[in-house]
Amino acid sequence: MTDMTAESQFAAKHLREGGLIAFPTETVYGLGADAANPLAVRRIFATKRRPTQHPLIVHVRNLEEAEHWAQFDRVAQKLAKAFWPGPLTLILPRRKHVHDEVTGGLHTIGIRVPDHPMAQEILRCFKGGIAAPSANRFGGISPTTAAHVAAEFPDGVFLVEGGECRVGIESTILDLSGPPALLRPGWIAAQELEPYTGPLGSSNTPAPGSHDSHYAPHTCLLLSEHPAEAAEHWRNQGRSVAVLHAMKPAIYAMMLYKELHRLDKLGVDLLIAEPAKGSGVGIAIN
Ligand code: TXA
Ligand code: MG
Repeated sequence: MTDMTAESQFAAKHLREGGLIAFPTETVYGLGADAANPLAVRRIFATKRRPTQHPLIVHVRNLEEAEHWAQFDRVAQKLAKAFWPGPLTLILPRRKHVHDEVTGGLHTIGIRVPDHPMAQEILRCFKGGIAAPSANRFGGISPTTAAHVAAEFPDGVFLVEGGECRVGIESTILDLSGPPALLRPGWIAAQELEPYTGPLGSSNTPAPGSHDSHYAPHTCLLLSEHPAEAAEHWRNQGRSVAVLHAMKPAIYAMMLYKELHRLDKLGVDLLIAEPAKGSGVGIAIN
């Protein structure tokens, strides 16, 4: 038995007993509970200090298991086959047995198959769905390393180490419960989804919990197309400033939260971030 399997079996046992695990996915680390255990799911909200009406994403092994939680039509099946495992969350009509704790009482459910070997191994051992938001306190920066998670929960959390998250920003959320709509931009761009869905409305009702302050560092953050000049301006006003320069979108996505965590700890008065260029991932980063 490999170490990965042994650790995953231990994590699966912890989930079965109603515990929470922080685990790696390709996007960000998640704070997971047995999606079939409402008491365990409530612990997520208490631990994150998150409002309980926020719906969670259920993580499963494959499309077949996803169909246990959600109703897939032809379009949803095709998307699942094309993009799973991967950073695409589908919002679909939920099955009757799904608990309100998971969906925030909605008739829909968010579901995805994560593309990370450790997440896959835990799901294989657990044989169930894992409800998981990002493993940070409500309103904080999402974690893309195990060290971020540990710092976020100083009282301790069952933490499965899985290196740095490859994607670095949250999954794209596509609502298929009505006319197809993009609820949260992410790694997978609208243009990649539209061959399956037709033209995507960007929704008037953004995903609950995706308001701006949701991803905020503690330090005041300014966006500027000219970060060097902006920094000079604020330094001349006597402020201490740290700058986050734009990188190639794929690298910027991978580095974004790591850099925000690092810069947030410097104790400067202001962070100045340069918006990402381009469509697709660039939009998700901004
Ligand atoms: O990449 C990700 O999606 C990460 C990893 C851990 O999978 N998870 C994540 O979870 O970002 P969270 O809870 O931080 O964000 C999930 C978003 C929330 O904005 C929530 O409102 C939305 O998904 N969501 C979940 N279920 C929904 C539903 N039934 N209808 C509309 N929005 C939903
Ligand atoms: Mg989050």
